[in-house]
Amino acid sequence: MTGPAGGTDNPAHSSSQTFLHPGASPPQIAHMTDTATILGGLLVAFEGIDGAGKSTQARAAVEALTAQGRDAVMLREPTDGPHGRRLREIMTAGREHVDPMDEFRLFLDDRREDVALNIAPALERGAVVCIDRYYISSMAYQGALGISPDFIRAENEKFSPQPDLILYFRLPVEDGLARITASRSGGQNLFERRDYQARVMQIFETMRFERMVRCDASLPVDQLHDIVMQRITQAIKAKSGRKA
Ligand code: TYD
Repeated sequence: MTGPAGGTDNPAHSSSQTFLHPGASPPQIAHMTDTATILGGLLVAFEGIDGAGKSTQARAAVEALTAQGRDAVMLREPTDGPHGRRLREIMTAGREHVDPMDEFRLFLDDRREDVALNIAPALERGAVVCIDRYYISSMAYQGALGISPDFIRAENEKFSPQPDLILYFRLPVEDGLARITASRSGGQNLFERRDYQARVMQIFETMRFERMVRCDASLPVDQLHDIVMQRITQAIKAKSGRKA
């Protein structure tokens, strides 16, 4: 589990100072310290309605973190594993034949596998994990089918590490749908219908997570990227027990 940001010094930092030599310049020292391993890693969830642009932002964040010399991992849910593939089939074939609770359980099984195979190992080695949708999406999307978001959260938190940072990309439903229609040849799937998306958005809007940051997804991509990186950098510093 990822706990709240600790106020203690991260012992992993000491290793970054071991290799200093007389010729080392201050900028190099700063760089080495900045990329010290984060104890317990950092889990960042990218959330929002369809078309909000979170996948683009998650990819750009991982690229930028990697360029800084950090261990950064990009994941997405549903995954490409067996449960995730089944879910993508349901999305295109038609979910009306699937009981909402069965659908919820499929997302849960997919996530359980993702935590065991990908999320927990990456966090254990101190990586920044940027995940394109996580159980916050289950709360909103399966919540919009009538399952209690609190119940969904509780079931997920039995085995899922809690995110250190939730970046919620806010966009009016109409704008999200327009972006999907413009970018895809196949049109909207059943998860993307207007009335459903509106219910999903309403749940996102009323969520209360301490570490949820609302980002204006209608901003230009580069400007939004700068905000995302600022927030991630702050979260890394907070988790490493240093001043933000
Ligand atoms: P999405 O990120 O939009 O995938 P893609 O970019 O391939 O279209 O996710 C697919 C859909 O899955 C999206 O409409 C939201 C839905 N979803 C849930 O309903 N519950 C969940 O727990 C997750 C992770 C996603």
